[in-house]
Parts: sequence; structure tokens; C-alpha cells
Amino acid sequence: MGKDVIIACDFPSKEDTLSFLDKFTGRKPYVKIGMELFYSEGPAIVKEIKDRGHQIFLDLKLHDIPNTVEKAMAALSKLDVDMCNLHAAGTKDMMEAALRGLTREDGSRPLLIAVTQLTSTSQERMQKELLIDAPLDEVVTKYAQNAKEAGLDGVVCSPLESGKIHQACRESFLTVTPGVRFADGDKGDQVRVTTPEKAKELGSDYIVVGRPITKADDPVAAYERVCREFIG
Ligand code: C5P
Repeated sequence: MGKDVIIACDFPSKEDTLSFLDKFTGRKPYVKIGMELFYSEGPAIVKEIKDRGHQIFLDLKLHDIPNTVEKAMAALSKLDVDMCNLHAAGTKDMMEAALRGLTREDGSRPLLIAVTQLTSTSQERMQKELLIDAPLDEVVTKYAQNAKEAGLDGVVCSPLESGKIHQACRESFLTVTPGVRFADGDKGDQVRVTTPEKAKELGSDYIVVGRPITKADDPVAAYERVCREFIG
């Protein structure tokens, strides 16, 4: 599986998203559609971006009882996205049901990856509010192993966790990593950040990059710089 850069298209509307994508005349970047855009515009936005030739990571982070997630995934499989995700906290039963739902009659399906612990969850909150006493990195690794045992393709994690997850699961188990910033860039609200070059060194398979590209004066040049540093 080749490395790729996924642009987080965190825009409020179809118009903003398409006018951003119009800037990329020569290339068709891999695009992440999240809750904001999907809930505002519905499934039609997925089809429209797909028809323009982009690969799509649909980031809806499903988490419900297995039967509900299976049915929801069956609906998502019809959208022809390339990657989608769920919360590993739903347990292996839910992840296995999701895979069943996502798999089409001909056996094909989008990649399915799991969110382990959100990077917004601190060790302190996990202990005090969720009553999980194990260290955060052990929880992340255990959730990744559960995802692998359920048959998923990989996890969303910090680039700093990629190595440990590849070791605990296997090299081909995908790590999809946000929290990427240029060495000379603004961190925004991300706390634990790495550069594209460092993410490559740490073994990330895909990096998800939003504001360093979407808010750049020249988004195409910023995207190309990320690709140069991450893919080479
Ligand atoms: O703008 P920025 O590069 O910080 O965007 C990162 C993207 O990755 C956002 O869409 C954010 O929701 C997503 N993400 C994240 N941390 C996670 C999971 C997803 O930043 N743990």
C-alpha cells in the first residue's frame, strides 16, 4: 500500500469545498469528508467529489450497537467511498458487524479503520471520567489489536503511535495520522504534532492534513510541499 496525503476538507458547504478543489487543476488529491460537510450536504456531496475523480475517506466515526452499525455501513458501502471509520470502543462485535455491512455482494469494500482514543482525550480524563486506569498508549495499542482481530485494515492514531501499532499488529496494518504541521507552521489547536517528514520516518501510511493546506495562501503549493516531504 503506497503512502498518500489526505486533505481534510473541513468546510461548511458544498460551494466552499468545490471552489477549494477547483484550485487543483493537474492533480486529484485524496479528500477527507467529515461530519460537518456530510451532515450539511448529505450523501450527494460524496458522489459529486467522487465523480470529479478524487478518492474519499468518509470520516463519520460510527459507534452504536452492532446491528445498527452493520445497517449503516451497508448504506455507506453504496456511496463508493475508499475509506471509512468507526470507534474501536464499540468492541469487536461491533467492528465485525461493520465489516459485514460494508462488504458488497461481489466481496469488494472500502478500507475500514478504527479510531482508538480521540487525541482530544487526555490520560487524566480517561481515568477520571471513563474509569480506564491503563496508560493511554496501552489503551491505544489494545484497541488497535482488537481492530486487527476483528479484521479491520488499520487505525487512526497519532504519528507518534504508528511504530508501536505496527509492532503490535503488523507492518501492513494501516496507520492514518492527523496532527501534521510544517516545521515553520502554526500548530493551531493540535498539541502533539509532527512534520510530514517525521510522520514518514515514524511509519505513517497516510497523513491527514487540514489547515496547513486549506488555510495556506497557496493551497496547491502547500499540498505539493506536504507530498514532497511525506512521499518524496
Ligand atoms: O486542520 P488539521 O490538520 O488539524 O486537521 C486534522 C483533521 O484530522 C481534522 O479533520 C480533524 O477532525 C481530524 N482528526 C484529528 N485528530 C484525531 C482524529 C481526527 O485531528 N484524533
